[in-house]
Amino acid sequence: MSAPTADRHAADRHVTAARLLKSSAKKSYDPAVDIDWDAPLPADKIWVPEHRVSLYGTELWERMTPEQRVELGKHEACSVASVGLWFEVLLMQRLLKDFYAEDPTTPRAQFALTEVADECRHSQMFARMVHTAGVEPYGPRESIRRLGKLFSVVSWGPAAYGAILVAEEVLDRLQREQAEDERIQPLMRQVNRIHIMEEARHVSFARDEVTRGMAQLSRAELAYQRFVIAYISMFVVRSLINPRVYAAVGIDPAEGRRAALGNPHHHEMIRWAGEKIMPFLDQAGLVGRPGMTWWRRSFLLGES
Ligand SMILES: [Fe+2]
Ligand SMILES: [Fe+2]
Repeated sequence: MSAPTADRHAADRHVTAARLLKSSAKKSYDPAVDIDWDAPLPADKIWVPEHRVSLYGTELWERMTPEQRVELGKHEACSVASVGLWFEVLLMQRLLKDFYAEDPTTPRAQFALTEVADECRHSQMFARMVHTAGVEPYGPRESIRRLGKLFSVVSWGPAAYGAILVAEEVLDRLQREQAEDERIQPLMRQVNRIHIMEEARHVSFARDEVTRGMAQLSRAELAYQRFVIAYISMFVVRSLINPRVYAAVGIDPAEGRRAALGNPHHHEMIRWAGEKIMPFLDQAGLVGRPGMTWWRRSFLLGES
């Protein structure tokens, strides 16, 4: 890339960041005051729509009582929240490393820190919601949690921001559905509303990072970025439900996980949740060899 073109790209990325900074100043939430944490949890409300529970439609599901189905939904909602929180911590590491490497006065660097501040509040909010629900903060499986330490070491640029987009947009799609559903616990709906509002900025920022980053890759770098995003994205979607949730309704965790991973309804939910982000990543050039095996295993392509 010629020097003037590179300069223009650098200037453009600050334009997006400056716009997002303005939006952050106008609309941000403080979950400590914008959520009524002391409100009672209505006994007749559910935590997640039935058709989004990982075992929905399986033989195991048919054997469960209505109470067990609601209970599993609650544990799965809390698993997703605590895994979402883990994603946020990994994202904060990436953002801080990027901030560390650049001029702290630029709009882009300033927005990176603003996003870290947003994610700090979100992580507190998700943790508090799980605690209020009286459920264990499952997080990802231990082996995956350990692997997560490598996230900001092995991924950067388009693969890092693209994988972050998979996490953010998959969760966003599920949260939008739940925010509008009156059967869902008011606490869960309010948490989702706040998250949806602030994540829209993060999505714009990350999409911008992907588009700009892709324009600067060599062929070897492209292959690496494609492999890394596919590999991480598979773990993102497969980590959402910690198998220990199944024990809460008397199902062996290994059996529950096997049933969920073989459940066409669950595959379809993941495909649906990824419906907005996958065409973007594809057009950006990030979905391709040598990552296709991992994409297929993620269920995000709609094949299983
Ligand atoms: Fe967040
Ligand atoms: Fe975010």
